[in-house]
Amino acid sequence: MKILFAASEIYPLIKTGGLADVAGALPVALRKKGLDVKLIMPAYQGILEKVAPIQKSINLGNPFGVGDLLLLETHIPENNTPIYLLQCQALYEREDGPYVDRNGIDFKDNHIRFAALSWATATLALHGNLIDWQADILHLNDWQTGFAAAYLESWKVKHLPIVTTVHNLRYNGSFDMDQFSDTFLSTELLSMHGMEFYGRFSGLKAGLVYADAITTVSPTYAQEILTPEYGDGLDGTLRAMSEKLVGILNGVDYEQWSPEVDPLIAQQYNTDNLKQKQANKLALLQENSLSEDLNQPIFGVVSRLTEQKGLDLILEVMPNLLDKGARLVVLGSGDKQLESGYLALQDKYPEQVSVRIGYFEDYSHRIQAGIDALLIPSRFEPCGLTQLYALKYGTLPIVRQTGGLADSVFELTEKANGFVFADASKEALQAAMERCMTCFHQDKVRWQALQKNAMSYDFSWEAVTDQWETLYKSLLIDK
Ligand code: ADP
Ligand code: GLC
Repeated sequence: MKILFAASEIYPLIKTGGLADVAGALPVALRKKGLDVKLIMPAYQGILEKVAPIQKSINLGNPFGVGDLLLLETHIPENNTPIYLLQCQALYEREDGPYVDRNGIDFKDNHIRFAALSWATATLALHGNLIDWQADILHLNDWQTGFAAAYLESWKVKHLPIVTTVHNLRYNGSFDMDQFSDTFLSTELLSMHGMEFYGRFSGLKAGLVYADAITTVSPTYAQEILTPEYGDGLDGTLRAMSEKLVGILNGVDYEQWSPEVDPLIAQQYNTDNLKQKQANKLALLQENSLSEDLNQPIFGVVSRLTEQKGLDLILEVMPNLLDKGARLVVLGSGDKQLESGYLALQDKYPEQVSVRIGYFEDYSHRIQAGIDALLIPSRFEPCGLTQLYALKYGTLPIVRQTGGLADSVFELTEKANGFVFADASKEALQAAMERCMTCFHQDKVRWQALQKNAMSYDFSWEAVTDQWETLYKSLLIDK
């Protein structure tokens, strides 16, 4: 079975969030299972230095009038996964991130940049002769590649089955109608049953309505997005096509994220020598010049700083817990108000709070290994990967019960592995953090049992590849 897997970010080539982790690991796990998966992504600045030498270059012409689109065939050296990089200097070679400039502002031509990626993806999926490899299934991810489903629809050819995975419904990739002509898509697609979205046009909606199957990244989020509360204006569309929607929980690449093999942490450990985790805790405290008291818990945050993640709630309750001796280590970037809120907390509690603004992959591993509990009070969370990483490191997640957090962290079951609260309120968060602190101080036996439970859960990609294979196969049978 041949699958063309399209994404706008893929680890270890480029990453801003969980989509990159998924696009970097699910295809690898599927290939291990014998599925023939190939990737496509833009050749952003600096990417060519991270891949194997280019084997072939195919000129797809200049359909958007911004310069030739070149398809470069290569593979990712770390895992040998074949990848097509779409090169176009005017669109992708920029010093900033994949979507925004250094001030955090969306690039003005994002609709063209990702329409072009989607156009190339659709072209490749349809004309396998270009690369001597004909895909059986096209797998799209989020709005940036959702336009590919629209191109295939507008070309009115009998085409291959499409799977669209929703990683985050909040980012619907919608643009002003007066930019629609830049995509060279047919205006026939602009109905409310097509890709029109409240007077705009949306890449994500195209990916949904023209797909044969829609997946999202956890079973609970798959239910939640059918409601107005979580549906971000697309719940009606999704309810109308709920029979083709399924939730499959994301997995973890345990070769990257396991304290037993992680080369980036101070001291490796496993369930049999959990005490060694303390060496990581001490190293983290020393690295950040925090008070070196191992008898007090360290809470941690590794996150994009956005409204979604509920991190404003932590700012409200943290002083109470700091006054009781807790420490806090934060790594994140995004919303400027949150950034300054956390920096102000650090100024006020210099011996107990450390805040690093920016994106540091290696440091995120040291935090996971060194802290006692990871805070994820998300208002919504399609899946969430950091809680899955935390579990493996014997770091107990404190999460709001939503989306993938609800599917992976449990407090009241027999195999409890963390702390869970329901309301997106500071009272509920504070109560959960206090339960955590009480357990840490007064019930070492339970704390260790929770850690061992956490570490024994299997959230590997291997555990879900069967579900993916079954889904792909069902689409081939249907056609
Ligand atoms: P989302 O995709 O919504 O940001 P996830 O939990 O699915 O949330 O994935 C976030 C990924 O990005 C994780 O791999 C996490 O470790 C990483 N991450 C987030 N912020 C940072 C940061 N500032 N530095 C390093 N890694 C980060
Ligand atoms: C999105 C979601 C996150 C999910 C990730 C990978 O960024 O916000 O919850 O884990 O995609 O699917």
